[in-house]
Amino acid sequence: MLNDAAKAERLLKRMTLTEKIGQTVQFGRCEAQEIEWIKQGKIGSLLNVYGAEKINELQRIAVEESRLGIPLLIGDDVIHGFRTIFPIPLGEAASWDVEAMERNARIAAAEAASEGIRWTFAPMVDMTREPRWGRIAEGAGEDVYLANQAAAARVRGFQSPDENGYPTVAACVKHFAGYGWVEGGRDYDTTGMSERVLRETVLPPFYEGIRAGALSVMTAFTDLNGVPASGNKFLIREILKGEWNYPGIVVSDWESVEELIHHGYAEDRKDAACKGFAAGVDMDMHSGVYLEHLERIFQERPDMLPLLDDAVLRILTVKYRLGLFDHPYVDVRKRERVMMIPEHVEQARDSARKSIVLLKNRGKTLPLDLGARKRIGLIGPLADDRHNAMGCWAWKGRKEDVVTVLDAFRSRIAPLAEVTYAKGSEVKQPLERGLEEAVAAARDSDVAVVVVGESEDMTGEHYNRAYIGLPECQERLIRAIKRETGTPVVVVLMSGRPLAVEWVHEHADAVVEAWHPGTQAGNALVDVLIGEYNPSGKLPVTFPRSTGQIPIYYNRKNTGRPHLYEDYVDVSDEPLYPFGYGLSYTTFEYADLRLDAWQIARDGSVNVSANVTNTGERDGEEVVQLYIRDVVGSTTRPVKELKGFRKILLKQGETKRISFTLTPNELGMLDERLQFAVEPGKFLVWIGPNSGEGLQGEFTVMDTKEREGDGLQRH
Ligand code: GLC
Repeated sequence: MLNDAAKAERLLKRMTLTEKIGQTVQFGRCEAQEIEWIKQGKIGSLLNVYGAEKINELQRIAVEESRLGIPLLIGDDVIHGFRTIFPIPLGEAASWDVEAMERNARIAAAEAASEGIRWTFAPMVDMTREPRWGRIAEGAGEDVYLANQAAAARVRGFQSPDENGYPTVAACVKHFAGYGWVEGGRDYDTTGMSERVLRETVLPPFYEGIRAGALSVMTAFTDLNGVPASGNKFLIREILKGEWNYPGIVVSDWESVEELIHHGYAEDRKDAACKGFAAGVDMDMHSGVYLEHLERIFQERPDMLPLLDDAVLRILTVKYRLGLFDHPYVDVRKRERVMMIPEHVEQARDSARKSIVLLKNRGKTLPLDLGARKRIGLIGPLADDRHNAMGCWAWKGRKEDVVTVLDAFRSRIAPLAEVTYAKGSEVKQPLERGLEEAVAAARDSDVAVVVVGESEDMTGEHYNRAYIGLPECQERLIRAIKRETGTPVVVVLMSGRPLAVEWVHEHADAVVEAWHPGTQAGNALVDVLIGEYNPSGKLPVTFPRSTGQIPIYYNRKNTGRPHLYEDYVDVSDEPLYPFGYGLSYTTFEYADLRLDAWQIARDGSVNVSANVTNTGERDGEEVVQLYIRDVVGSTTRPVKELKGFRKILLKQGETKRISFTLTPNELGMLDERLQFAVEPGKFLVWIGPNSGEGLQGEFTVMDTKEREGDGLQRH
């Protein structure tokens, strides 16, 4: 039985030059011209085509009306759900629930595949420290360790086996590489970084996604250190296909090969095609430059023909791997069995409530007290909003499927307490009489829940913000309620990024970050607000006090003058909320940190553990976090680095000892020659509830190897 690569080799031998080039061509539309090209074997992949029947018809044309009958690879942006919409990826990351991330991706893939989609352009694994950048919403936050776990989980989920044993859809780790470093948070702007930052911070999630089996990689729009990623041989040929020996498809971003012209890196479309292909981009998304120019290029440069065979083999191998040759068509009845089924909807609700982060809860304002005819005011522009709750990249989600916060208040709170609703403001501008109505509603309530934040068109691709506070009209709404009434205020933030909401933090009684929670937004939020679910989310990104603090992140360098002066004369040094931060309706206590060695060899490991006790009045989940600091290195090291976490459930009064093992994998770094090494010296270690707190210990890595007879001090 030939394996997929061998089948691809065998097919390649039968292909003409035109048909080989055809496999490298992808279009994001399919009209008469594209259908003609499909028949001629000049297109290998499509995106932006929808409906099982439509896709089956296009497949039929490819399989039955072209000379070799090579099936099409149909791709789509299935980012955080297909029809059932999960929290935006940044919100999912806030759950720190890796299994849930995988489950969500598996469900999204199943729903997409039931409509004939067999390739998703996800997970986006771009690291960034730029919350002004709209696409921070699509990633897993500022920390490489958490982002690595998320990347691998999402790839596993998307590529989980279908009923025929094939990957449900091919995943695509994107955007290779460095896209999140855009200057000023301006999408598509230039990026520059040292090779150290590239290899230490930007590349690892790609590597972990590829280790998890990602069948494709998408190159970025941006130029990296002067060479656009979609024409960057160092990135694609040297690192990805060379060092990492990557066997999958490298697809460009939308017209990003043609955009080498706009970058000033290619003379014209032909030059762009040549440079993109030579750099290692196997498939051109939608620009058409490969279709138009590759044939001539290979006639002029026959030495490049082996590159074409390599690219086509990658593409054909993935098509065999997906079973497209054996099963090119989708059973159109499948979607009834799959789309938005109860367990998918329940998972969307569970994932959304686990992503919600409790940031403040003064005087136990939450959970809401619904007893004895309580009156709850529900206010704000995002409380009754079916569209924005799904967030960016959710266009296959349907508004009519969304449970809004108002829906859930009416169905689940109104029977127990008096609910008064007032919109109060639009998202971006005031509402006529909005303030008056909102103040009146709050005044007549025992507590006011104000749902504010960003609309979907303030977050995601090219929706960057130069100021990441609440829109002015929304803050004015909350200020009016605080000023005119004595009613306790619960602020619910729905956003695709961290928000610089210092005034809200200081004046609200409770603050909750719900991100854009997806189809089950209202139910997930009410589960938390009324205490049916004890919030367990932790921030995957630092929340600044002010936009002016950006970039601000927990794993910073110590510098030569730590705390000699204030970072700023006008703003505190500290973030508003640190990475890893999140409260619960119960309390947790950390005690009795233990290490099983004070000294270890360079190839040794050390076990670090601590007791975590639920000291509150109700069961709750806690994300126990492990951080290290390599105090002295051949290059400067961050003051803290996340190297482990465990999300645990503790019953009221329960204590668990949580332990982690630090191995060379966690203790190693890139030395001054960018070589991975565990360097001797002192390490600090913390186990705690977030990046700002924890029990501290230390150990020393000795300059010996375990097999040399360590004679080291172990407990
Ligand atoms: C977009 C995005 C990319 C997406 C692609 C196809 O511009 O940059 O993430 O997958 O085009 O829609």
